[in-house]
Amino acid sequence: MTAHPTTTSAARVLSCIQPTGEMHLGNYLGALRAWERDQRSSDAFHGIVDLHALTVIEEPGVVGEATLSLAAMLFAIGLDPEVATVFVQSHVPEHSELGWIMQCNVSHGELSRMTQFKDKTSKREGRFVSAGLFTYPALQAADILLYDTDQVPVGDDQRQHVEITRDIAIRFNNRFGDTLVLPEAVTPTAGARVMSLQDPMSKMSKSDESGAGCVFLTDDPATVTKKFKRAVTDSDTGPDAVRYDRGAKPGVANLLEINAAATDRTPQAVAEDYSRYGPLKADTAEAVVAVLDPIRARYGELLADPGELERLLRVGSDKARHVASTTLARVHRAIGIVAR
Ligand code: TRP
Repeated sequence: MTAHPTTTSAARVLSCIQPTGEMHLGNYLGALRAWERDQRSSDAFHGIVDLHALTVIEEPGVVGEATLSLAAMLFAIGLDPEVATVFVQSHVPEHSELGWIMQCNVSHGELSRMTQFKDKTSKREGRFVSAGLFTYPALQAADILLYDTDQVPVGDDQRQHVEITRDIAIRFNNRFGDTLVLPEAVTPTAGARVMSLQDPMSKMSKSDESGAGCVFLTDDPATVTKKFKRAVTDSDTGPDAVRYDRGAKPGVANLLEINAAATDRTPQAVAEDYSRYGPLKADTAEAVVAVLDPIRARYGELLADPGELERLLRVGSDKARHVASTTLARVHRAIGIVAR
């Protein structure tokens, strides 16, 4: 199958995030903002994949809280549940059901070759390594194939998972007849590459030691301002100290890129307005605060109104279930599972 049978002309695009940890400015300017901008030009599905997070969760309560907080954030950045389908994976039980069938159509050898599995297990030396960590790609294949997904925007770390999904779909179609749509990995709409404010050679990350290098989307204006004020630049104070040069001036380039992304300009154009670091930092903080203010306000409102958040999520889960159950029924028929 080359296109999904529920023929709408827009490509169906699926991206999923695990509810683990807080969203930061790098997530927003790098990816989430494009989700909001592109929601009308594609048939967008966004899954909050809580079942995937269970591969490494060992205490009660954690996953639910993280799921609600991520959901509130996705709506706060402007995803419209009437336009984009935002759903929680566990609210669509078809994921687990197709996940099992996918496990039976992937080999132990194929799963053993996943570099992410090797990475993740080597980081868990001496700790519990769940079988879920190993079979994870089968569940991810189910996520993708349930929606007759055309395109999966992914970074390099996830390409292998989309490849194995295609391999599973091809095998399934060979075994049971043409049933599953083959997805394609696509490069996400380019966003800003936001680096740590304390270490501009590494990407902004929530696991940043002190937290000073990472601006969370929920940071209040005073915190944002403080983090930018302390941002690392360099010791060059010449007349062209503020110029866009990633190689020679990574800290300054990062500030220019963040400012440019927040004000819809190019980093070069922003650089022309400054000769000193102080004003660049202050104005960049202000531009970021202007972007984050409405997001933080909406996020707060949604978290304070669980009924409304639940309602928004139900809109997405209902839409997702409608598609997922149709696909799962097709899979059951193809295999010849006795109908109930
Ligand atoms: N494995 C992805 C990650 O760790 C998350 C994910 C789960 C996903 N299912 C997906 C991404 C389906 C894209 C499509 O980031």
